[in-house]
Amino acid sequence: MFFKTLALAAAVGSAVAQRPANISICDYYTTALLTNNTAANQMTLLTLVVNTAVIGNYTKPNVGIKVPGILAPAMINGTAVNLAPYFTGALLSTNNGGSSGVSQSFLDGGGAAPLLKNMPANDTSSNQYFLLTHLYEFFGVLTGCSMQGGADYPAYGGEASMYEVHKFMAISYAEITYFIEQVGMSAASFGVATEDVTTIGEALMGAFGYRCAPPITIIKAQGPQLQAICTDSTCPISPNATCASYNATMEPGNATMTSSASGSMSSPTGTSTTSPPATVSKGAGASITFSFAAIAGGLAAMFL
Ligand SMILES: *[C@@H]1O[C@H](CO)[C@@H](O)[C@H](O)[C@H]1NC(C)=O
Ligand SMILES: *[C@@H]1O[C@H](CO)[C@@H](O)[C@H](O)[C@H]1NC(C)=O
Ligand SMILES: *[C@@H]1O[C@H](CO)[C@@H](O)[C@H](O)[C@H]1NC(C)=O
Ligand SMILES: *[C@@H]1O[C@H](CO)[C@@H](O)[C@H](O)[C@H]1NC(C)=O
Ligand SMILES: *[C@@H]1O[C@H](CO)[C@@H](O)[C@H](O)[C@H]1NC(C)=O
Ligand SMILES: *[C@@H]1O[C@H](CO)[C@@H](O)[C@H](O)[C@H]1NC(C)=O
Ligand SMILES: *[C@@H]1O[C@H](CO)[C@@H](O)[C@H](O)[C@H]1NC(C)=O
Ligand SMILES: *[C@@H]1O[C@H](CO)[C@@H](O)[C@H](O)[C@H]1NC(C)=O
Repeated sequence: MFFKTLALAAAVGSAVAQRPANISICDYYTTALLTNNTAANQMTLLTLVVNTAVIGNYTKPNVGIKVPGILAPAMINGTAVNLAPYFTGALLSTNNGGSSGVSQSFLDGGGAAPLLKNMPANDTSSNQYFLLTHLYEFFGVLTGCSMQGGADYPAYGGEASMYEVHKFMAISYAEITYFIEQVGMSAASFGVATEDVTTIGEALMGAFGYRCAPPITIIKAQGPQLQAICTDSTCPISPNATCASYNATMEPGNATMTSSASGSMSSPTGTSTTSPPATVSKGAGASITFSFAAIAGGLAAMFL
């Protein structure tokens, strides 16, 4: 019944009139897709978009956009990208508060299976549970969910500084571009209009994609924080760079893999994160070209 409602609304969503400027992306598409603009429905919308961005499109049907998901390897401008090792524990890339990164699996809450059921994890204590629920909350703030902040859709309760979270990953421009692309394609797959996908992409790139960016406020209650996620030498430098605020970027080392440190997040199509078929990256490359043009155009407008 849920998917029947969603399918119907999505068909409307793709042909819907332009979003009024005084209604947030979250509120607008919650109403368009789920009818009632409640906190619970806003959380459902962000759950669908985040889960799809992570494991690829899984709801039936979408508006005809295939989303490979951030765990699938891809080519970005001829550079191979594979974000999966940051999630499987293959790299010493998680900041657990120490002076160097540690290996941690974020697929320890059942992997893809609970995400396919529109859930964050199969429990409420795994790394996967905290990562996914924090993503639902964080993206709710970024897309302007007006009803967030109560029991049905809690306020963001995660780390304040995205730099701190990602500081041992040495994320490249190609990597963050792929991540943002997948979020944008996920939104587009639910019928979010191109202008709104561009707005989301610009917001993400502007907040996280510039090396040495000065502190900015994303979560009001958390105040200005270092937010750059893109930190390696390939990242564009912030127009207001404050590089002295950031530590030197070091590539994460490889973890000595044990069976408990590894995880698997098979995509709905059955591709594994370790040995994807070539068609996945080919498909991704094609779609990326399409929507990145819009984001790049918007970015240029922002900084020129
Ligand atoms: C948005 O603006 C329109 C027209 O200006 C107005 O009718 C509507 O009530 C506003 N909506 C909100 C949520 O402020
Ligand atoms: C929307 O809310 C109204 C009033 O609470 C309810 O009757 C209706 O079933 C809801 N529709 C959906 C699709 O949730
Ligand atoms: C993903 O979307 C594509 C394009 O609409 C579709 O062909 C494919 O079946 C979808 N995959 C899943 C698992 O729903
Ligand atoms: C830089 O590294 C030092 C040593 O690990 C640490 O104390 C400091 O908090 C780090 N600074 C930032 C901005 O991460
Ligand atoms: C959840 O998934 C993990 C594997 O990621 C498994 O070890 C655990 O037993 C599962 N828990 C439940 C309650 O199914
Ligand atoms: C890809 O290439 C285009 C055109 O040269 C450039 O504008 C864009 O910044 C590149 N993107 C990445 C992620 O390298
Ligand atoms: C750079 O800093 C100036 C002064 O604080 C500010 O007006 C401007 O918006 C900033 N530009 C960017 C791209 O952050
Ligand atoms: C980690 O392993 C990969 C191959 O799996 C290798 O290319 C890379 O150089 C290794 N990195 C380090 C820091 O040893």
